[in-house]
Amino acid sequence: MPPRFRPWQECVVYTVWPRSFADGNGDGIGDLPGLTERLDELRWLGVDALWLAPIHPSPNADYGYDVSDYLDVHPDFGTMADFRTLRDELHRRGMRLLLDLVINHTSVRHPWFLASRASRTSAKRDWYHWRARPNDWESIFGGPAWTWDEATGEYYLHLFFPEQPDLDWSNPAVRQALAEIARFWLDEGVDGFRFDALTVLKKEEGLPDVTPGEPGGPRPAWSRFLARPGLLDWVRDFAERAGITRDHLTLGEANGIAATDAPAWVGEPQGPLSALLHFELWHIDTTDAQGRPGLDTRAFSDTARSWYRALAPHGALPALYLENHDLPRIVSRWAPPERRAQAAKAFAAATYLQRGLAVLYQGQELGLPNARFTRSSDLRDPLSLRRIAALRAQGMSDAAILAEMNRSARDLSRTPIPWDANRPQAGFSSAEPWQPMDPAHIPLAWRQQREDEDSVLNFYRAILAERHTKRQELLPAGLTTSVPIARQSTTQ
Ligand code: NOJ
Ligand code: CA
Repeated sequence: MPPRFRPWQECVVYTVWPRSFADGNGDGIGDLPGLTERLDELRWLGVDALWLAPIHPSPNADYGYDVSDYLDVHPDFGTMADFRTLRDELHRRGMRLLLDLVINHTSVRHPWFLASRASRTSAKRDWYHWRARPNDWESIFGGPAWTWDEATGEYYLHLFFPEQPDLDWSNPAVRQALAEIARFWLDEGVDGFRFDALTVLKKEEGLPDVTPGEPGGPRPAWSRFLARPGLLDWVRDFAERAGITRDHLTLGEANGIAATDAPAWVGEPQGPLSALLHFELWHIDTTDAQGRPGLDTRAFSDTARSWYRALAPHGALPALYLENHDLPRIVSRWAPPERRAQAAKAFAAATYLQRGLAVLYQGQELGLPNARFTRSSDLRDPLSLRRIAALRAQGMSDAAILAEMNRSARDLSRTPIPWDANRPQAGFSSAEPWQPMDPAHIPLAWRQQREDEDSVLNFYRAILAERHTKRQELLPAGLTTSVPIARQSTTQ
């Protein structure tokens, strides 16, 4: 008898990067009304839940991952009324809604940080990390992790961009304030969250240098803040304050957590989260003697096996994911150009026929390759723009910079989705999109693939249908449900 898991542990989560999904109001920017119009397509595909990349007001120093107001909707994406319509339309179809909560840092323009930087004696000074002298930490996005604040004469810590100051999680008032945000959205009827940058919340006490000349030699650059001991206790404390239970669907971005440590996070009965998004498939790319791309299939299967074996005895399952808005597309990473369609199907079968929580990223179901950029002015991600400036400053040629961007930029998987090859802007928008659509993506549009029974899209649909059938068969006797996630929304 195969092990039994909670129904939501095997559901299908579809990641939406809203700016590029579908534009409802014709301003060239994807939005919540545009997304709501597409729910029937996603249901047809077999999607049970959506995870939306951040939808809150943000100065977009990191496209939504720098939040200036956690309790509202960015005007680019619509209004609270649009949010509620989306929520209700999802629930009406038996689908669930997850928001992306950015809890490690805020925007520099968030009122908490404005108060914190107002003076050294501000009541919110200790909500962030301020120091008279910086340590030697590097930002995950490159460059020093500290920025000088002229007005108060101290440095503040940011593990990402300077516009994303890190909150001090050792302060219970910070955990409480973040928990109230989560509670607000639960009261609004969301069914769970994806927690951004979860594994860097806890910094080593005293913020010591990475390389103070200790015995044992230099330590890895992130050793002082990645997956530190005690992190889990803070996350549990936060989840309790927020009223997040094991019946919610919660995904943690889990760089640095090993499979063997994962049961404490997601296992029965104590794990505070549903699933972890580990990073172990991020670096398994290979090239053959001719320089053609491929993947290390041994590493792929070893990873799958180790996560399943570590979790299943604890009543939990791995998250199965291949793509997201931070990574290049798998068919470009792992397959030569002439084999992309077959490869997309092979990766789908090898991944989503495993037991676990299936997580897809928009466009993956179409087998989209990386967007190809012919000029650097079409790149939009601030991380790309900074890298372009840095490479230029090092004297790299424009052609070499473009080649580098076409290999690694986050823009490669963030361009607008093609819906219908026969419509202007391939049905994404009635206006010029905020970032150009790759013309090579247009023949891969949803509508045309839906009509072609051999398409990658129809293959995904078949694989996901197979998962649904199996899941029903595996449910405990007496429990029949067409609702994939146990909890019913409080607003229904
Ligand atoms: C991970 C997110 O997926 C990424 O897009 C973002 O830039 C960083 N966290 C910082 O919030
Ligand atoms: Ca719009």
